[in-house]
This record gives sequence, structure tokens and C-alpha cells, in this order.
Amino acid sequence: MNKAVVLGTGSCLPERTLTNADLEQMVDTSDEWIISRTGISNRQIAGENEYNYQLATTAAKRALNNAGIEPEELDLIIVATVSPHMLMPSTACFVQAELGAVNAFAYDINAACAGFTYGLDLASNYIQNRPDMKILLIGSETLSTRVNWDDRNTCVIFGDGAGAVVLGGSDDGRGVFGSSLHSDGRLWNLLFMDSPKSLNPDLQQESWQGAFIQMNGGDIFKYAVRLMEDAVTGLLDKHGVNIEDIGIMIPHQANIRILNNLRERLKVPEEKVFVNLSKYGNTSAASIPIALDEANKQGRLVRGEIVLLCTFGGGLTWGSLLMRW
Ligand code: UT7
Repeated sequence: MNKAVVLGTGSCLPERTLTNADLEQMVDTSDEWIISRTGISNRQIAGENEYNYQLATTAAKRALNNAGIEPEELDLIIVATVSPHMLMPSTACFVQAELGAVNAFAYDINAACAGFTYGLDLASNYIQNRPDMKILLIGSETLSTRVNWDDRNTCVIFGDGAGAVVLGGSDDGRGVFGSSLHSDGRLWNLLFMDSPKSLNPDLQQESWQGAFIQMNGGDIFKYAVRLMEDAVTGLLDKHGVNIEDIGIMIPHQANIRILNNLRERLKVPEEKVFVNLSKYGNTSAASIPIALDEANKQGRLVRGEIVLLCTFGGGLTWGSLLMRW
């Protein structure tokens, strides 16, 4: 059976680095607190000519180059994002125009930090039905535009960036072979970004706090560890895969304590977990594809080995995915 394989990866990080020392000048925090509670040292922050779609386009060009695919060969472009360039049209349409991918259709998806993994599952289903399809899947965020820079609970955590993969069909046993995706909308208010709702008068309400990320960090932390563990163990069981069979685990880069907790519960050796959190912070939907690209460049993705993704974000949304590289 044909499965979706990654033909190429790419990423793009903004030029400007925001350090913990910089944040000490902005809010009541310290380098020691941020590193010990989150594991983050730096994050990259978008500036001039670094709109979401521009970061996404650069990541996409790098992935296309890595795959040896021309933009005209693309059938579909999906951008996973919660910080789109505009609400309409989609960021994916801007990317399409920049690339000249005239034969593709294009749209965005929003599953918060889980967006890339949801998108990979979606793309995998397209390719199972139409193995000749070439799909560009991007996770791209400019969360710096959605952070309240006076809120020390959130502003130390998030960063900007984009990662992309080009996907195609293969019948050689490689590719995406399982996923376990979940949502629980009842818990929406643990992590959200407000915006004008269905009725304009919402904007006049006293409760309106602006279109910024708001988070109950402690609860998110607990749910993240438990729900990702459940998603991974359920998926491994379903496919008869043991944790020792995994070549590399690429988790959403949220918080080093979440990752360590999860790793210990799943009993994955430390050297098998890819972590780049300290450099970029939490880049939401971009975190896994940026990590995939770095792992690829470092030669850590070995042909034939199993790659395990796991993710968690606002919604709540979470899940895990297995592919043979
Ligand atoms: O993609 C998913 C996205 N979200 C996440 O992954 C977030 C998951 N949660 C977390 O990462 C952690 O909960 C945080 C890093 C956000 C917070 O760490 P924590 O260990 O859960 O701290 P806390 O919220 O329990 O706060 C402890 C103290 C509080 O002070 P008091 O009330 O004890 O006096 C906070 O006000 O730390 C204070 N605090 C800070 N202090 C210095 C909160 N943020 C900061 C800060 N610098 N930046």
C-alpha cells in the first residue's frame, strides 16, 4: 500500500534573538527561573520582512530544494498556524503565490501546537487515496505578534519560526503508518488566544482582553504529560511497536520538564529524544517540523527507522504519529 513519505525538509528562523537577559529587562523574571522552569534560553523573534508567510515560504523553498521538487509539481499546500498572516485569505495562499505553485490548491489548518501532526495525518490520507500527489506541509508561526509582552507567564515561552516538509507516495514500506489524534474542546480555556467572536459587540465588553495568548500553565503541564503518554502508548500498542523499536522521538518542544517527564514515563532513552527547545522556545505548530529539519540535517533520521512524533496544544488538541523514515 502506498504511504506518505517525507521527500524533503526545510526550516526558517527569524534573525533576531531574544535572550532571557533581554526578558529580564522587560518583565519581572530571571534567566535562572526561565531555564529551570522551562529549559528555554533563547527564542527568535520576527522583524521586518519576516511575516508568517515569508518565513513559511523560505522554509518551503528549502524543503522543495531538499526534495528536488519544483513548485509547479505541488498539488496541495497546507499551512498549520494559529498566527496567520491574515484571517482571509489563508497563509497557504500567500505561500502559493510566493512560490509560483500554480497547480496546487492551498489552505490553512488550526490545531494549535498539534497543527503539524494533524496536517501530516491529513496529508497521509490524501496520499493513500492519490499516491501521485505531492504535498507541501508547513508549520509556521509569528507568535510574538500574539503574546502580551507584559505577561511573564507566557512571554518567556513562545518564539517564531517555520518548518516544512514535502510529501509524496511510496510503496517500499516506508512512510506514515499510524496516528492517534485527539481533542477536548471542553478544556478550551486552559490555553487560548481571544479574538472578535461571532458578534462585533464582543469587542465592547469589559471582559475583552485583546487578541493575546492566555494560559493556565500548571493545568496545561499536567494534561500535556498524561495525555501525550496515553496517546503514544495506545498508538504503539495498536501497531505492535515496542518503545525499543523507535529510532527517534520528536516531541512538540513545549517545556523541558514536560519532555523529561514524558520520556521517563515512556522509558525512552534520553539520546533518542530530539530536543532543540533551548534555542527557539515553543514555536507551536512550527516546533515539530523545525526539529524534523534539524534532525534530518544532523543525520539523525535514518532510512528505515521508526520516527515517533507526539504533540499537545490549545483546544485541547494532542496526539501522536508513527512513520518509517
Ligand atoms: O504548547 C503547549 C503550551 N504551553 C505549555 O507548554 C505550558 C506548560 N506549562 C509550563 O510550561 C509551566 O507551567 C510554566 C513554565 C508556564 C510555569 O511553570 P510552573 O512551574 O508551573 O510555575 P507556576 O505557574 O506554578 O508559577 C510559580 C511561580 C508563581 O509565583 P507565585 O504565585 O508562586 O508567587 C508565578 O507567578 O512563578 C511565577 N512566575 C514567574 N516567575 C518568574 C510565572 N512566570 C514567571 C516568570 N518569571 N516568567
